[in-house]
Amino acid sequence: MGFWKTWFSTPESLATNKTTSFEEHTGEIRSGSGVNGDAAARNAERIVFSTERDIDLYELEELCDAVGWSRRPLRKVKKAIEHSFLVASMWQVRGNQRRLIGFARATSDHAFNATIWDVVVHPDFQGKGLGKALMKYVLRKLRSEEISNVTLFADPHVVDFYRTMGFMSDPEGIKGMFWYPH
Ligand SMILES: CC(C)(COP(=O)(O)OP(=O)(O)OC[C@H]1O[C@@H](n2cnc3c(N)ncnc32)[C@H](O)[C@@H]1OP(=O)(O)O)[C@@H](O)C(=O)NCCC(=O)NCCS
Repeated sequence: MGFWKTWFSTPESLATNKTTSFEEHTGEIRSGSGVNGDAAARNAERIVFSTERDIDLYELEELCDAVGWSRRPLRKVKKAIEHSFLVASMWQVRGNQRRLIGFARATSDHAFNATIWDVVVHPDFQGKGLGKALMKYVLRKLRSEEISNVTLFADPHVVDFYRTMGFMSDPEGIKGMFWYPH
């Protein structure tokens, strides 16, 4: 498997698809990396998780467009990625093809706290357990940096998604508060 490292157990909803495997990638994701020459290997689909920051901003914009998010200036997205503590991406890799299918990032004080932002899974891949797998990947990475307080801002329609992973609203009555320029 070269430098592709098997990391995830297969989410149940995808377990029947024998050609899908789950991996973490620790280097640059290059087309064709780790793929044997035979046809079976070329056709096998892998879902790869990575913390590489070198994300094609246009590909990320396409992913965000696909879920209907408002566009943001790319220079600011680039800056936000550069200054994030953790950048997590999820890729569908098949032979020489790779496609960005999920993304999340976290900002942090590098000691106690981290906040997760921009969690997204492409609609073609939603409802298969991949959003949960991406969040688990992010949480595992944050825990490995000894970050113990993880927060996020959930859109109203996804509160239950985060609840399934143990996130709580207003623990001990604590309220998130916002300030916006007038
Ligand atoms: C929210 C999102 C990341 C979920 O990804 P996904 O791959 O579809 O989620 P999963 O299939 O891993 O679902 C995991 C669990 O959450 C539940 N779930 C998924 N989406 C949900 C939603 N919108 N509301 C409530 N529960 C949800 C699933 O039923 C599943 O429950 P289970 O573990 O009991 O079976 C994805 O729908 C998405 O990208 N949405 C658009 C962008 C967005 O709104 N991001 C969040 C911004 S705060």
